Amino acid sequence: MRAEPGMIEAEDVAKSFTVRKRSGRLRRTRTTLDAVDGVSFTVRRGEFVGYLGPNGAGKSTTIKMLTGILTPSSGSLRVCGLDPARRRTELARRIGVVFGQRTTLWWDLPLRDSLTLIRRLYRVDAAAHRTRLAELTALLELEPFLDTPVRQLSLGQRMRGDLAAALLHGPELLVLDEPTIGLDVVSKATVRGFLERLNTERGTTILLTTHDLGDIERLCRRVMIIDHGRLAFDGGLDRLRATVGADRMLVVELARPGPPVVLDGIEVLRTEGPRQWLRLPNAVNAAAVVSALAERHEVRDISLREADIEEVLAGLYRGDHAYWCSGRPVAP
Ligand SMILES: Nc1ncnc2c1ncn2[C@@H]1O[C@H](COP(=O)(O)OP(=O)(O)O)[C@@H](O)[C@H]1O
Ligand SMILES: [Mg+2]
Repeated sequence: MRAEPGMIEAEDVAKSFTVRKRSGRLRRTRTTLDAVDGVSFTVRRGEFVGYLGPNGAGKSTTIKMLTGILTPSSGSLRVCGLDPARRRTELARRIGVVFGQRTTLWWDLPLRDSLTLIRRLYRVDAAAHRTRLAELTALLELEPFLDTPVRQLSLGQRMRGDLAAALLHGPELLVLDEPTIGLDVVSKATVRGFLERLNTERGTTILLTTHDLGDIERLCRRVMIIDHGRLAFDGGLDRLRATVGADRMLVVELARPGPPVVLDGIEVLRTEGPRQWLRLPNAVNAAAVVSALAERHEVRDISLREADIEEVLAGLYRGDHAYWCSGRPVAP
């Protein structure tokens, strides 16, 4: 056995659903939908990893497998060294889970009572619970609404309550599925600041699913991007920016379609009719490239774009990653 196994170890994990589709007026056919289509990754103790992807990419399905709610169709999965689906109860004592679109709190009870019930569920002893509750109350600023029924809380307050509920038993790993969805700016900032401290001061490992780039930029040193059930990127945010975000792109429209232009140090990313997309590394002078192009080709139009991270992701989501990531290893 290795000394320090990963907090999460996923090897070729897949989940498919059987869905019925209407085909014709009366007929229904069964088809298989590969929600997660073979993902492999390791999350180590203390990491803060962002799990990104467009709607329907397979993020929540992954989270549900990690927490034992769904059983993978194939592949192997270990969380805290346990098989999540088989050891769900045991796992629940060691991890915290928050689904942004759902609450684990009791709707009709004051937040305080919900948190007390959770203590009983997890069988946390009363003294430890008091200490943690006091700490979480301070960090998440729960005091003003501890005695308010959950149904009357704002979304931001409820999310803070849910975070407290997920952390009362002191889990080693916190898994969050879209925790900032729908939150106002102030609540977002509170939640982000809290997660940051939890990770840096407590060493809690965090896997954060989001499509909010602000969350990622503020918090995550590593991002995994899932698209159509497959990992499209796994690495540092710096690398994502450096490899695809920091380069500029020159979009050139020539007089007529032709083969990719040949220029020193310039990669043609795509051609579409007379249009060509050229990657300009930062070291390359754009003016020099433009004049070299004009010397050799009849140029109709030219535009220079800075690719920011949002665009990079949009490109990845559209499936442009075939060229954005071409030739680059997907592993960290
Ligand atoms: N229980 C289910 N039955 C059938 N299809 C499902 C089920 N859960 C999710 N899916 C489908 O699997 C794909 C991935 O869904 P999901 O993991 O929720 O994506 P994400 O969280 O990234 O938006 C989607 O196409 C979704 O419609
Ligand atoms: Mg989801």
